[in-house]
Amino acid sequence: MKTIKRLSIIIFIALFLTSVHSFTSQAAGNCDYTLKTKCTTCHNLGRICRKLGKKNKSKWAKTIKRMVHHGAPLNKNEVKELATCLAEENASVKGVCK
Ligand code: HEC
Repeated sequence: MKTIKRLSIIIFIALFLTSVHSFTSQAAGNCDYTLKTKCTTCHNLGRICRKLGKKNKSKWAKTIKRMVHHGAPLNKNEVKELATCLAEENASVKGVCK
């Protein structure tokens, strides 16, 4: 009985970890997509890449909201998600800048 309990805890933790992992990598994937499709119509990504590592999350959120004001078609969730991605210490979105 004890082993089954222990086993189910291990399985639970494993499932939890994989779901967290797929959640974070999916968020980064969405950010790449958002950047490529919604942030390149008025200027190229260079303008964004130059600022990576220079703005914190709230500054990015402000910038992105200003872009929405200029006409970028992002919903509230996309603004939040992208601000989080762009402010990450080792921004996974850096990949789109190469
Ligand atoms: C509708 C046109 C348009 C779209 C779409 C757009 N931008 Fe911009 N962006 C501008 C204009 C105009 C400027 C220069 C004026 C300014 O800074 O507000 C600019 C400047 C910038 C700058 C440099 C200024 C700063 O504050 O660092 C960054 C970074 C930036 N945009 C990021 C983004 C991101 C991220 C997206 C996608 C969410 C995006 N832009 C989409 C029009 C746009």
